[in-house]
This record gives sequence, C-alpha cells and structure tokens, in this order.
Amino acid sequence: MRAVFCTKYGTAEVLKIKEIDRPQPKEGEILIKVVAASVTTADSMMRKGEPQFSRLFLGWKRPKNPIVGTGFAGIIKDKGENVDNFKVGDEVFGETGLTFSSNAEYVVMSAKGVVLPKPSFLSFKEAAPMCDGALTSFNFLKGLAKIKAGQTVLINGASGSLGVAAIQIAKSMGAIVTGVCSTKNIALVQSLGADNVIDYTKNDFTTGSETYDVIYDTIGKSSFSKCKKILVTNGIYMSPVLDLTLIWNMMSTSIFGKKKAIFQATGMRSSADLNKLLKELLPSFQQKKIKMVIDKIYPLKDAIKAHEYVDTGRKRGNVVLLMEG
Ligand SMILES: NC(=O)c1ccc[n+]([C@@H]2O[C@H](COP(=O)([O-])OP(=O)(O)OC[C@H]3O[C@@H](n4cnc5c(N)ncnc54)[C@H](OP(=O)(O)O)[C@@H]3O)[C@@H](O)[C@H]2O)c1
Repeated sequence: MRAVFCTKYGTAEVLKIKEIDRPQPKEGEILIKVVAASVTTADSMMRKGEPQFSRLFLGWKRPKNPIVGTGFAGIIKDKGENVDNFKVGDEVFGETGLTFSSNAEYVVMSAKGVVLPKPSFLSFKEAAPMCDGALTSFNFLKGLAKIKAGQTVLINGASGSLGVAAIQIAKSMGAIVTGVCSTKNIALVQSLGADNVIDYTKNDFTTGSETYDVIYDTIGKSSFSKCKKILVTNGIYMSPVLDLTLIWNMMSTSIFGKKKAIFQATGMRSSADLNKLLKELLPSFQQKKIKMVIDKIYPLKDAIKAHEYVDTGRKRGNVVLLMEG
C-alpha cells in the first residue's frame, strides 16, 4: 500500500510517498481501507515538529510514528480477535490521535479508539475532517463555554476549519454570532449564518464598542489581554492554540477575576468522551444545521501540495486527501 511518510521534521518537501506492506490488525484492532483523510493545520505543525516542546511526545529528533495524518473515513477490511463493535464492510470515520498514520491506503487502529459508523448522510470526504474543526469547535463551544441561546459569540479566524464549524455550531445553539475574517471570506462567513462580520484587514475587533459573552479565537492570533475589555463581566476568552501566555492566563483567571481564559487539547480527551461528543454533533449534520466546508481535495500522490496549501495559512474550511488517484 502507499502511505505518506515524514521521517524528519521540516517543510512539506520532507514528505515522501512510499510503498509498504499493508498493516495487520492485532487483538482489539480494526484494519480500515482509507477512502478519504484530512490534512490539517495540526498535521502541518506535527510535520514541522512545532512547537518544539511537542517533540517530547512526537519524537525528539524525528517523528516516532512516521506516517502522517489523523482524520480518516473508510471501510473496515479486517479485524483482530475480540472486536465486537464493528464488522468487516462497515463504513467508519474518526481519528487515530497520536498514532497518526491516516494518510495511507490502509490504517490499523483500536476498535475502542475515536471511531464511529459513518452515517449515510455524510460522504467519505465530508466525514474525514470531522474530528478537526467540527469536533474541536463543538468541544469548545458546547463542552467548555456551554453557550446558551441569546449569548453573543465572536469567532476569530471564522474562515478556517475550526471557524467555519464554529459559526454553524454557535448558530445552531441559538447564539448571536460575529465572525472575524478577511474581505475575500466575508461572503463565506455570512453564508454560514454569521449575524455580523468584522473584516480584520480593515478593523481591529478588540477596539470596537461591542461586548461578547464568548470570544473563540480559533487561530490564536489575539489574546486574553487584548480581548478582556470587550468581554462581558463573566465572559470567556478561549483558544485552541496553546502558548505560554495563555497557560498563564488560564492559571491566573482560574483564581482571580470573573473573566476567564480557556485552552484545551481536544484530542487529549478520552476516546469515550470524543465518541460521545461526535454522536451529539452528528444530528446537526443530518438536519443540515451544519455542513462540512471543504476547500480543496487532493489525490494521495499530491500530499506535498496539500501540505503546502495548508502551510499558507489561507485555507477556507477543510483540506481532504483522496486515496484513489
Ligand atoms: N486545541 C485543539 O483541540 C485543536 C484542535 C484542532 C486544531 N487546533 C489548532 O487550531 C488552529 C486553527 O486551525 P484552522 O485549521 O481552523 O485554521 P488555520 O488553517 O490555522 O487558519 C486558516 C484561516 O485563518 C484565517 N486567518 C488568517 N489570519 C487571520 C487573522 N489575523 N484574523 C482572522 N482570520 C485569519 C485565514 O483567512 P485569510 O486567508 O482570509 O486570512 C484562513 O481562512 C490551528 O493552530 C490548529 O493547530 C487545535
């Protein structure tokens, strides 16, 4: 089978497509023929080995698990002993987490990992990126901020993978949503339901007079200190992008003040928790309250091009790799 290898940290050119033996499922594992996989900003950061401290668990000198990718959608082709929740032929989707390896024609993972039956109302290419923007933003908006109908939510980075999902999730929860994006993405952000749009190339949202219950900085380009003045008294600033300042803000606001700063690495939650969140999220896709926004689709042979595109920081929604072709 073909797989996308990263044997040293660096630019997209470090990636190589290699032909290797198909993996075999051991006890408790399933073998999935991958139809579609995601290529995410987190994948690109892992390929670069950034931030540096992430190498403590990714591998200090080179990636411990050299096949890249976490999100996938595909079909179960084989299973090991003692797998009773799936059968051969089932269509599934999910993420492999720290074992990576989804950017390949076949992947093996625990049947108790983050993997669910793929519903018929989602195509493989729609299901593959589900655990990036949609699951992460659902975790932040529902799980962490617990937003309520009528609350005001500002989404910075509204055109990224997390942002396009966040607009739709917040709207489906009854929030009044402001999206922050550039001029070229205003129409997209409005089409997803944002009530208000701020063009970051023309205005700095942190200097406006509006206040918000929740500021979800999906790209981590603002900060708690800049946003504090436009948060309501018990407002929350949250970001999925970790840095030392945010860690300090989280620790200090957990003790002092009514305004809170929040970070969480969604992928570090237990598989059971993530599967539960996914099950709660899926009905909104079925009811068409949320749709998957796919920017570009590449064949496996163009995995380097897919990474180069993600590296631009300009993607709108999600990037998908199709294994055939
Ligand atoms: N903690 C977690 O659980 C978790 C999980 C998944 C991902 N993440 C992280 O979440 C972050 C976001 O990822 P993503 O895939 O959604 O987005 P992304 O690929 O990092 O960002 C792309 C989007 O950001 C927009 N953008 C760039 N600069 C901007 C600015 N100054 N203001 C507003 N928008 C701007 C771009 O639009 P323009 O071209 O118009 O500028 C583009 O549409 C990544 O750092 C990823 O690693 C964290």
